[in-house]
Amino acid sequence: MNTMRANVFHGMNQFGVQDVARPHAGPGEAVIRVTLTTICGTDLHIIRGEYPVKPGLVIGHEPVGVIEELGSGVTGYLIGDRVLVGAITPCGQCHACLSGHQAQCGHGSGYEAIGGWRFGNTINGAQAEYLLVPSAQANLTKIPHALSDEQVVLLADIASTGFSGAESGGVRIGDAVAVFAQGPIGLCATVGAKLMGAALIIGVDGDETRLHVAKRMGADVVLDYRNIDVVAEIKRLTGGGADVTIEALGTQDTFEKALRALRPGGTLSSLGVYSGKVQLPYDAFAAGIGDHRIVTTLCPGGKERMRRLMEVVHHKRVDLTPLLTHRFSLEDICEGYRVFGERLDGVLKVAITP
Ligand SMILES: NC(=O)c1ccc[n+]([C@@H]2O[C@H](COP(=O)([O-])OP(=O)(O)OC[C@H]3O[C@@H](n4cnc5c(N)ncnc54)[C@H](O)[C@@H]3O)[C@@H](O)[C@H]2O)c1
Ligand SMILES: [Zn+2]
Ligand SMILES: [Zn+2]
Repeated sequence: MNTMRANVFHGMNQFGVQDVARPHAGPGEAVIRVTLTTICGTDLHIIRGEYPVKPGLVIGHEPVGVIEELGSGVTGYLIGDRVLVGAITPCGQCHACLSGHQAQCGHGSGYEAIGGWRFGNTINGAQAEYLLVPSAQANLTKIPHALSDEQVVLLADIASTGFSGAESGGVRIGDAVAVFAQGPIGLCATVGAKLMGAALIIGVDGDETRLHVAKRMGADVVLDYRNIDVVAEIKRLTGGGADVTIEALGTQDTFEKALRALRPGGTLSSLGVYSGKVQLPYDAFAAGIGDHRIVTTLCPGGKERMRRLMEVVHHKRVDLTPLLTHRFSLEDICEGYRVFGERLDGVLKVAITP
């Protein structure tokens, strides 16, 4: 069998499952048989033509699978091992990786902006029967026997990203944290803020189902931006502004509100993928001398990150399975995109089985 089924991007709103060449592992690489994957908000940006990738690419970047082939030089794994691979696949050897910026991996040399994100961006991705894993030694993480595919699939991207919103924001025990947007990423940021020890977590969204889930995932207060002055309410609830705000949508509106809702010296931790310009209003920015910190983070990846996240699930600190609300086969992935993209039927994340 030299072909496989895969979801191929052809152009704006043109994509679907077709036969493509099946990958084989070269030196330092592995091939996994994908057993579960999902669709990311970023995949929606891709199919809508808002984030450019080249036509002909297999998309998707959230793989769980079983090792099918191991290239030369990859040690410590066996064919048949169940593995989780992060959305971001750093080489582990370049200046960026060795300086702790794996997501900005330069593949063996310096830094490359967003260079660690390869699946479904610059190389074929995970919405397929088989997936070629580059730099396999740095990116295959064995899944503990006790954990199911559904318990770990959301760690590849949304949990790693969402938690990093709280980590990069430097949330400290006792902090007040506001999270702008409670989509899958924002919900995981809410969970992350709780894990980091926030005392008060305020979740903001305009979707009642999601606000309801936000409470279940750890938000103490939820605010519907459609019928409340969110910034004024956060200032009131926190006595002057949040210690950390997390932006989890990627719009000027939420970015600006996240800045305005901060206390002086607070940290805005931004996760959203923006398009066009993002502007800093002079007053909210205190003319540039308000001791604010603005940090951005691309999903942390690599095998050590995935191992740590699986430990968090294994020891029952968090359970993300309630976020997997819908299930589709790979053959029906277009329907999965429709339900996820149009946010039908209370969908949060969809499980896709090849
Ligand atoms: N930094 C990273 O590594 C990384 C990784 C994955 C995704 N992302 C990005 O994160 C963003 C969020 O992803 P997602 O999958 O959670 O998106 P999503 O579209 O599923 O959810 C967005 C949420 O925002 C809410 N919303 C809309 N307008 C709002 C407003 N004005 N105020 C508050 N909430 C509002 C919506 O109701 C929805 O619940 C996207 O831009 C995605 O590309 C970033
Ligand atoms: Zn993603
Ligand atoms: Zn690297």
